[in-house]
Amino acid sequence: MQNRMAAAAAAAAAKKLLHQRRSIPNFSQINRLSSTSGFTHHCAPGHLKQFLASYRWDLWKSCLIHMQNMSAIHHRKFGSVASTIVQRNPTFSTINDDDLIYFEKILGVKKVIQDHEELKTANTDWMHKYKGSSKLMLQPENTAELSQILEYCNSRRLAVVPQGGNTGLVGGSVPVFDEIIINTRRMNSIISFDKVSGVLVCEAGCILENLISFLDKEGFIMPLDLGAKGSCQIGGNISTNAGGLRLVRYGSLHGTVLGLEVVLANGSVIDMLGTLRKDNTGYDLKHLFIGSEGSLGIVTKVSILTPPKLSSVNIAFLACQDYISCQKLLFQAKRRLGEILSAFEFLDAQAMNLVLRHLDSVRNPLPSSIYNFYILIETTGSNESNDKEKLEAFLLHAMESGLVSDGTLAQDFSQGSSFWHIREGIPEALMKAGAVYKYDLSLPVEKMYDLVEDMRIRLGGAANVVGYGHLGDGNLHLNVSAPQYDDAILAQIEPFVYEWTSRHHGSISAEHGLGLMKAEKIYYSKSSETVQLMASIKKLLDPIGILNPYKVIPSSLVS
Ligand code: FAD
Ligand code: MLT
Ligand code: ZN
Repeated sequence: MQNRMAAAAAAAAAKKLLHQRRSIPNFSQINRLSSTSGFTHHCAPGHLKQFLASYRWDLWKSCLIHMQNMSAIHHRKFGSVASTIVQRNPTFSTINDDDLIYFEKILGVKKVIQDHEELKTANTDWMHKYKGSSKLMLQPENTAELSQILEYCNSRRLAVVPQGGNTGLVGGSVPVFDEIIINTRRMNSIISFDKVSGVLVCEAGCILENLISFLDKEGFIMPLDLGAKGSCQIGGNISTNAGGLRLVRYGSLHGTVLGLEVVLANGSVIDMLGTLRKDNTGYDLKHLFIGSEGSLGIVTKVSILTPPKLSSVNIAFLACQDYISCQKLLFQAKRRLGEILSAFEFLDAQAMNLVLRHLDSVRNPLPSSIYNFYILIETTGSNESNDKEKLEAFLLHAMESGLVSDGTLAQDFSQGSSFWHIREGIPEALMKAGAVYKYDLSLPVEKMYDLVEDMRIRLGGAANVVGYGHLGDGNLHLNVSAPQYDDAILAQIEPFVYEWTSRHHGSISAEHGLGLMKAEKIYYSKSSETVQLMASIKKLLDPIGILNPYKVIPSSLVS
């Protein structure tokens, strides 16, 4: 009986229509959606709030929705805790007046930055964990300028660090010592967009969110999306091979990037900027630069395949009591939702608590009880009624089989965004909570959460161990949150976390890269022969080693 009631409730809930998460619906969309949902058919802005009222779908609990109490947000500052100790390569030069005169001559004074405040920001990573001491940032405006810079730096043995939006999480985007920062923010033009093929060609410094907005107007979307979209640049995304929230649907950048233009350490411009889906003329060298974190060349232009924007988007926020149910839910989602599944993200109760405590205006969509796990599922398709039918069937099955303990379906754009805000807000909440030790791991899905639990046992009450991530891709974000950085905590985490991952045939970097943080840890995930070959490629493309030194590959192999 209870199950039948639950099934009826779910079916009714699933009938409520959803708006799109990524774009604010226009009035014709609102009218269309509201009339089919049985709400008022003319939705002026004043009525919008009413129309957007939350619909609760709750199996066994009361319908009461509580507002969560928000506690005050504390900001703290931390010193550098880079655990990797490297020596400055003594063969690198230091900048002198002649260098500055040269750079000002080719770029003009505005693009040669020596301002203390600007340099302070550019020397510090997003987590305030890695800090360099560069005295110079260059901001070329085009490929020709960048090529001249690199040719000169190579001849002078001046080390450089390529920098995009500086949202990287492994200490790759900031100098370790006095490397010159080459920031691509001025190279931010959209070059072309082909509406038939969906191929976008743009410069590396385009901010991801700007590309998303541009494409939205054209009726397309970017094949990648991440919480840092407001700052990260497409060149940075490609150089880290960023995964993000939609990989489960659109695949990795190795599949969607069709071409690149890259400048090598000696200033040579390598034009691989094809726009073809198929091109088997020899080695596909662009793949070397996707995920090479600025160690082989600087990406200047990008050609990327973008999918069409589909009209029917649904977002469900579900609760599970145990991890095995999360796994089973994923298994079912892949089978029952199939091609319309566009995100399958998870967070544990600890992650949820952090977000509720540290982020403004976040409330728990399922407040009637505390659950151990939360799952965000997004579907995107082109046929509203078919998609709804599929989602309804999936939710019914999930409830009847007891996989899901509670859940709610976003009934409009604003509610969908608020669900996403919870998931995307976790990194920020962790930053506000204090010190954070961040690990980004690929693991077999069935083993993934064992690591979180093992880490909890290991650390006892010394720190808050938090698990979340891209469950649909087998990507765990294991974060250890503590009031301040503490070597004793670090010694409990490392090398345990890397050994555990390696033992379970996982990867110590699923999507963030190696940067400075994990350059020396590469052997946990790659054979020595593979690392040796990587070092040979690095030496071939950058014989002096000026490009992003101390990162990605163990220093001993390349200096
Ligand atoms: P930067 O941080 O500036 O640089 C990253 C690396 O790429 C550095 O090694 C740098 O030297 C190199 N680089 C930058 N631009 C170039 C270029 N043009 N040519 C050559 N090398 C270059 N990552 C994910 O994969 N998935 C996520 O879901 C995700 N979510 C995030 C959420 C938040 C809140 C934050 C802060 C970060 C997140 N990240 C995520 C990490 C980060 O945003 C990505 O790695 C992103 O791709 C970095 O882009 P960026 O432009 O900021 O690059
Ligand atoms: C995410 O998925 O939120 C990002 O990769 C950032 C993080 O791991 O904290
Ligand atoms: Zn991630």
